[in-house]
Amino acid sequence: MKKKFLSLLLAGVMVFSAALAGCAKKADSKKIGVSMPTKSLQRWNQDGDNMKKELEAAGFTVDLQFANDDVATQVSQLESMINGGCKVLVIAAINGGSLGTVLATAQEKKIPVIAYDRLIMDTEAVSYYATFDNYKVGQIQGNYIKDQLALDSTDGPYNIEIFTGDPADNNAGFFYNGAMDVLNPYIDAGKLIVKSGQRDFQSVATEGWKTENAQSRMEALISANYADGTKLDAVLCSNDSTALGVANALAASYTGEYPIITGQDCDKPNVKNMLEGKQSMSVFKDTRTLAKQVVEMVKAIMDGKEAPTNDNKTYNNGVKTVPSFLCEPVFADASNYKTILIDSGYYTEADIA
Ligand code: BGC
Repeated sequence: MKKKFLSLLLAGVMVFSAALAGCAKKADSKKIGVSMPTKSLQRWNQDGDNMKKELEAAGFTVDLQFANDDVATQVSQLESMINGGCKVLVIAAINGGSLGTVLATAQEKKIPVIAYDRLIMDTEAVSYYATFDNYKVGQIQGNYIKDQLALDSTDGPYNIEIFTGDPADNNAGFFYNGAMDVLNPYIDAGKLIVKSGQRDFQSVATEGWKTENAQSRMEALISANYADGTKLDAVLCSNDSTALGVANALAASYTGEYPIITGQDCDKPNVKNMLEGKQSMSVFKDTRTLAKQVVEMVKAIMDGKEAPTNDNKTYNNGVKTVPSFLCEPVFADASNYKTILIDSGYYTEADIA
């Protein structure tokens, strides 16, 4: 009797654990790896959270990792996603050119890769790219400076300085070119003067997109060119983390009237600065839109279908032209922040108070 009970119990346990294993297998067959560069910048936290939420709502399980802006950490997180059975990898690269080796392993294991926001360079192993129209981001910034200084109807000359992003981020070149294609003719015509002479991409790049790097470069520019009361009319900043550094430097050591400062991302400290007149504009890239688009890509891949794209010519990674989906960037300033940031539910008033 006791024996019979024990064997029944054993059979029960076996059925139960087989069911559990089945569940785990089922869950694993829908596991997606999401690799984000860092938690230190607000947008990547939002990107990561939105991706996780949207993927889970679509029935996937998610391995979400942040790599602390350290390439070796990102590579080892990707290795563990590959070995952990992720079926698709979604990656916002820290250094677009440093993932070739780890992604070759993904390719061997037939794990498709979606480049998220930043293109992954010099590898076959990237199936799709989803981002915002990065060239257009730069154009919006360049046109803003052109319009605010009325470059077509006044003579100037006006003084400008230029800050772009990390050279290892393929986006930085697009932002820079988008803006400089608007501004270069006025610089060449002598209406805009870059007093520091620092104008080419390498000279105006900001390592790691870091606020402190932009701040120390701006401090040096002020003391060399604007400490004698020379007016600085505009600072082209490719994004909000660099704009913050520039604003900090100006607050510390520039005594003149505040220049026009551009930005991108609508980070909370920058929206506050816009409301206080310390940054003129930003470019809003709704991370919810991008996350939704990438989830559509993941779904299509998992269903064995082609993913939706709207640009199949712009983004060549050195090895192939990667089919891309470009979302629309939106101009933001103190006059429309309520509609695009508050009414849309992106922030609460308290977030930016
Ligand atoms: C993103 C920007 C961001 C920057 C710094 C770029 O690749 O497109 O939105 O401000 O990286 O993280």
